[in-house]
Amino acid sequence: FDAIQQKALKVGAIDSIVIDAQDEFADHYVAPVIKANALYEGDYPLVSALSRPLIIEHLVKIAHAQNATAIAHGSTGKGNDQVRFEAAIHALDPEMKIEAPIRDFHWSREEEIDYAKDHHVPVPIGKKSPYSIDANLWGRANEAGILENPWNQAPDDAWGMTVAPEAAPDKPTFLDLTFQQGVPVALNGNPMPLAAMIKQLNQIAGANGIGRIDKIENRLVGIKSREVYEAPAAAVIMTAHHDLENLTLERDVQHFKPTIENKLTNMIYEAQWISPLFDALMAFIDKTQAVVNGTVKMKLYKGSAVPVARQSTHNSLYDEDLATYTSADSFDQEAAAGFIKLWTLPTTVFEQVNHVHSEEKQHD
Ligand code: ARG
Repeated sequence: FDAIQQKALKVGAIDSIVIDAQDEFADHYVAPVIKANALYEGDYPLVSALSRPLIIEHLVKIAHAQNATAIAHGSTGKGNDQVRFEAAIHALDPEMKIEAPIRDFHWSREEEIDYAKDHHVPVPIGKKSPYSIDANLWGRANEAGILENPWNQAPDDAWGMTVAPEAAPDKPTFLDLTFQQGVPVALNGNPMPLAAMIKQLNQIAGANGIGRIDKIENRLVGIKSREVYEAPAAAVIMTAHHDLENLTLERDVQHFKPTIENKLTNMIYEAQWISPLFDALMAFIDKTQAVVNGTVKMKLYKGSAVPVARQSTHNSLYDEDLATYTSADSFDQEAAAGFIKLWTLPTTVFEQVNHVHSEEKQHD
């Protein structure tokens, strides 16, 4: 935080306000993503998308406190983040002006780097590795440079939070994750705030080569882009959460929930975090999470994080006496034959009338 502040003051800011929003980010932005199993296009845990409304919330507050009339951001004109920043600004203060110099000057990456050099702005990239990196508690996103050709494999220097799976330890690591109402609250039995847990898991899972995602994605502005992500803690937590839902959610809820999840996920990606539909859909998700309580044992090994055991003292719907094939069986097998008759009645009647699949076909 100090380095960030020093950098701002050194390049000419008249003031620099640093806000530690890690707990807020974890509790109010990451927790909904966990509860909603929100993975954009199946695998991206929304690392950057998620941070934008929170950044703007604070920027608008500071702008008001300073009587500022404009907010600036450094997005280009080709990405999703400009939309997320500006959508949130419009929602929170429609009067606020927006300055987006890199977009509005049509600067290329090279011109940005030249400007930074000329004005002594320290940037951790050069023209040889012109990566565009965005990182926070929940993960790291990296695009541009050599990654722009999707046939190029991401080189070692593209990664920053994880070791390569083949360089990970030869022994697995086992972790117990305890959830309350769909949110992880303890690691190996030790209660801790979500932000602290994410940090620990980023270390542990990153060291096991977990959480690398090499992705071609559909941007909101219509282009496909290639980006590599790292989200080690997210990989562990979200896999464990989904496993616990398998144990505790009633079947119809479990089968319907992905429909809502998919909409919510796209809304987060597509700059609609601040919207009445988002709040309403999230209320549905929260309702489902009341029973998602319990512990999942995860096995971390060379790039994979898999659940290997789970339990829920009060909310497990798994009934060993119903599931067992031993003599302890309490399932009413007599009921099965009648169930099957009625379950198949509509197709049985259709077939008797139309003979589409049975041998003797009848035509009018
Ligand atoms: N494509 C991701 C998203 O839209 C990440 C955007 C920021 N990435 C970056 N490398 N600067 O959510």
